[in-house]
Amino acid sequence: MIKVDLSGAEKFWGDKGPDWALCAAAHRTLAEKTGLGADFLGWLELPQRIRDTELSRILAAGKKIREKGDALVVIGIGGSYLGARAAYDLLGRKGDGVELLFAGNGLSATTLQDTIRALGDRDFCVNVVSKSGTTLEPALGFRIFRELLVKKYGEKEAGERIFATTDARRGALKSAADKAGWECFVVPDDVGGRFSVLSAVGLLPLAAAGLDVEAIIDTAIAAFAALDERSEKNPCWQYAAARQALYGQGKAVEILGCYEPRFRMMAEWWKQLYGESEGKQGLGIFPASVEYNADLHSMGQYIQDGPRFLLETVVSFARENAGYIIPSDAADGDGLNYVAGHDLAEVANIARAAVKEAHIQGGVPNIAVEVSAMDEKGFAELVCFFELACALSGYMEGVNPFDQPGVEAYKKLMFAGLAAWK
Ligand code: PA5
Repeated sequence: MIKVDLSGAEKFWGDKGPDWALCAAAHRTLAEKTGLGADFLGWLELPQRIRDTELSRILAAGKKIREKGDALVVIGIGGSYLGARAAYDLLGRKGDGVELLFAGNGLSATTLQDTIRALGDRDFCVNVVSKSGTTLEPALGFRIFRELLVKKYGEKEAGERIFATTDARRGALKSAADKAGWECFVVPDDVGGRFSVLSAVGLLPLAAAGLDVEAIIDTAIAAFAALDERSEKNPCWQYAAARQALYGQGKAVEILGCYEPRFRMMAEWWKQLYGESEGKQGLGIFPASVEYNADLHSMGQYIQDGPRFLLETVVSFARENAGYIIPSDAADGDGLNYVAGHDLAEVANIARAAVKEAHIQGGVPNIAVEVSAMDEKGFAELVCFFELACALSGYMEGVNPFDQPGVEAYKKLMFAGLAAWK
């Protein structure tokens, strides 16, 4: 289970510490479904719902995709993309799993060409993920990869290789899928994109990549049950209430750090979750991320010495996936033979403690989040932890954590610009 350590944050909030009563009220509002955005709380029951409904079909489709080739192009953006990408980057491809390639998350022709080149002449399938079916970036990406599929396999076989994850009943993608007979999976009505990773949105690509999707679901079911605890011992309470206490002290930017470069896209997923949920009505902590140790040699300067509006949350994994013993060197030119024989992870632990201490001394509060392991279970625990804490934190802030009216502004202007071509 996730552990949160607030010892590096306490001195920054003085006597204005976490407001546990407000946190309790937020949790009650969430559980009783009486708050803003209550129509979008399906994510709390999603793991059990998926186990009871689509899971066997997801596993079967994952197997079919693996049998049909060794690559799956996953087309989606935002909440319809980041969760699968985060898990895949963190955990990698396993067993006979296919390689996942991601497209439709931007409009760069260079990146598109890179992806097509990376695909090469391999056999592949496509999983297009769009709740609305009308989001420009994935719609264009799908158009392009569908054409490639049809050219390679012909209309009928291409149709066997397309998997659409979309609304259960409505939308352009659902209509196209029904007409063409593509296998469909559901983005539930009551789950917003950024809370959808534990539905087919995230699970189908991960099943194709050979990850243990059943372990993800079973862990998530248990995690949400455990995180329902209504007390200061609940790690979600600790994280949500500490963030809000620090925000109250002017800590308006949160940097999420991890010493594991594979975590980079998890941080991107987290940024969407917190940025879209809390950044509204002139409020919200700005979520940013850093990758340690690399960023200690770049952003480290700012973190240590820049304006003091930062708070830092550092995710670590209790169990290392790999070890490496540092070799001795006869010449000892770098003078580091005294660390030879130790595992690289031991050095990393000492570096981590030093960074934490230095940043706290420099005026940056530290929230430490420890996950059991970098595996499917750890991933599921992290997702449940961050989602529930986000909802609590958003309610504590006084906003609707489940809408995103701000993302429409650029779309209106962009489609107005494109309308000139009609
Ligand atoms: O969280 C969200 O709602 C967004 O990130 C959406 O997931 C994203 O814009 C993609 O939308 P759609 O799935 O409708 O293509």
